[in-house]
Parts: sequence; C-alpha cells; structure tokens
Amino acid sequence: MMEAPLTTVDLATLTAQLRALRDEALPRIAGAAGLAALDELDLHYLGRKGGALSGLMRGIGALPVEDRPRVGVAVNEVREAVESALVEARGRAGSAALEARLAAETVDVSAPARVIPRGTLHPIVETIARITEIFGQFGFVTYEGPEVETDVTNFQMLNIPPDHPARDLWDTMYVDIEGALLRTHTSPGQIRVMHAEQPPIRALLPGRCFRYEAIDASHASEFFQVEGLMVDEGTNLADLKGQLVEFAHAMFGEGTPTRFRPGYYPFTEPSVAFDIGCLVCGGPGCPACGRTGWITILGAGMVHPVVLQYGGIDPERYQGFAFGMGVERIAMLRHGITDIRVFLDGDLRFLGQFR
Ligand code: PHE
Repeated sequence: MMEAPLTTVDLATLTAQLRALRDEALPRIAGAAGLAALDELDLHYLGRKGGALSGLMRGIGALPVEDRPRVGVAVNEVREAVESALVEARGRAGSAALEARLAAETVDVSAPARVIPRGTLHPIVETIARITEIFGQFGFVTYEGPEVETDVTNFQMLNIPPDHPARDLWDTMYVDIEGALLRTHTSPGQIRVMHAEQPPIRALLPGRCFRYEAIDASHASEFFQVEGLMVDEGTNLADLKGQLVEFAHAMFGEGTPTRFRPGYYPFTEPSVAFDIGCLVCGGPGCPACGRTGWITILGAGMVHPVVLQYGGIDPERYQGFAFGMGVERIAMLRHGITDIRVFLDGDLRFLGQFR
C-alpha cells in the first residue's frame, strides 16, 4: 500500500511516505485489542519481507548518494517510534490479560470448606464388632460360615431330622439346588467349627441369616446372628451363665439385670433363653418388652451330645455350650430403635446418625 514505484522516488516523497506510515501506524497500535492484534500490526509494518517499512526502504537505493543518510535517519526514527509503541501496547495488553486471569482465578480463602461426605460403619457391623470384641476378651475367635448351607448342617447335624416338627421353628427359604438352603441361623457354623478344630474351642460366628417371615417392625426375612460355641473338658451351664452375664454387663452396663429361662432347641440340652431387664421402661405397657420388664436377647444351652458326635467330638470326654443372639435386637436396644426394617432400608438419614 505504501510501496512507491522505484522510478518516481525522491527525497521529499519518501520522507512524506515515512511520516504517513508512522501517523497511520501509531493510532492503530494504540487502539489494538489484544496481543494477537498487535502481532499482526507488527508484521504488517515492520515485517522483514512484506512489511510496509521494508517496502519503503527499497526506494532508498534509487536516491542520490548524499540523500541516503537523511532517509536512513528518518527510517530509523519511524521504526523506533513504531517499535516502542508496540512495546508499550504489548505491556498494556499483557497486564490486562493477567489482571483478567487473576480476577477469574481468584481463590476465596474465606469461603466455607467443602465437606467431603464420609461413610460410617453400619450399626449392625458396629454391633457385631462390639460383640466379637467382648467375647474376644474371653478368648473367643471369630469364624465365618456360608450363607447358602446344606440341609445336613443347618438341620440334621443339629439334631433336627427331616420331617421333625421342630423344623417349624425355622421357616426356611430353599435354593434351587437339591439339599441346599439359605441358613436359617448361624448354628450350622457350630458343626463346621467342630469339624475344623480340636477342643478346646471358643468360636464366634457372626453372619446373615434368612427366614421366610411375614415382615413387620420386629421380623425381617434377612437378619444377623452371632453364634457362640465353647467346647472343652468340664464345660458346664454355670460357665455359660457367667459368660453371658459378663457379656450383658459389658454390652448394656454393669447394673443390667439378667435371667435364664428354660427354653427349647433340639441341638442343646438343657436349653435356655437369656433375658436382660428392659432398657426402655422396666414397666407395664412398654413398647419394647410389653409388660414383662424383660427382653430375650439370645437362645443358648449345653451342646447336645448327639451334636458333639456329629461334630466329630467325643461327648464322653468333652462338653460344650452354645448360644445364638440376634444382632438387630441388640442394636435396637443399644440405640433405642423400634423398627427392625430400618437396618436394611439403606436410608442415609437413618445410617448417617451413627457417627
Ligand atoms: N439357632 C438358634 C436360633 O436361631 C439359637 C441358638 C443357638 C440356640 C445356639 C441355642 C444354641 O433360634
């Protein structure tokens, strides 16, 4: 655009063209928006090959020798003016960009911290941990048995033959494999531990159990038990009672009243029910215990000699006791929960309270 044909060049024209170039360039540079636009103007005016200033300088060669230095001075002045305008404009554009970035990326150190949600132990898991901790202090070791059991270990080796009326105590859910079922209690674990270990045995077996139940506030078709088994020489009912009383005091507090009542299970003889004094009321009309003031927390008894035999243990030499407690019942008493269904609902409003 500013390039003049070589033939017509003279000093006055070239000087005027240089001035015109400068007068055009400076306001354009001053008004340019952003670094990219400045780069473009830089190239346009000062570019070595296609730049406007180099175009004009090509005319110098056609001037008389004595005029050339003067034009050289003028060219340098224009170049310097354009260059320093560019430097200044770039500085401004750069700090504007930096300021915009700083404004956009500001960290508000006064903002409240973001709360990272943390999980908690499920009250059932936590209650099982407490139970195994207490019995752990009596030397009991924790084992686990399978949830899908066999009719043989869940019933027959527990002295409950097929068609025995005692089976009515456990409404059973079966699976589609001959002889297999979902364990109705953790007691088959007694047989498994006796097969795996030699006396003396002190075993705890926590786990999920299944029953075909009509579901209500105190019945679930899926629930947890902790089984206990002790087998040794000279084990007797007083040992059982002593350990259970100690357990009740550790779990529910020193002054908690306890009692043994006669019970019935085919795999223990004698059998008992173990009650603690109602923690909710201690009086008639109580929502937890009804009117009795007592709440049963487990079934127990001396292991039936036949069961010891099925477990490969000589009942002439060894005796044992066993108990099975419902974990939900204990968790409900500890936390004042009145509906068993909340445990498996997965409702975070309930679960989030156990922190
Ligand atoms: N398995 C019994 C039940 O589920 C409880 C129990 C266990 C009773 C061990 C005696 C001994 O009801």
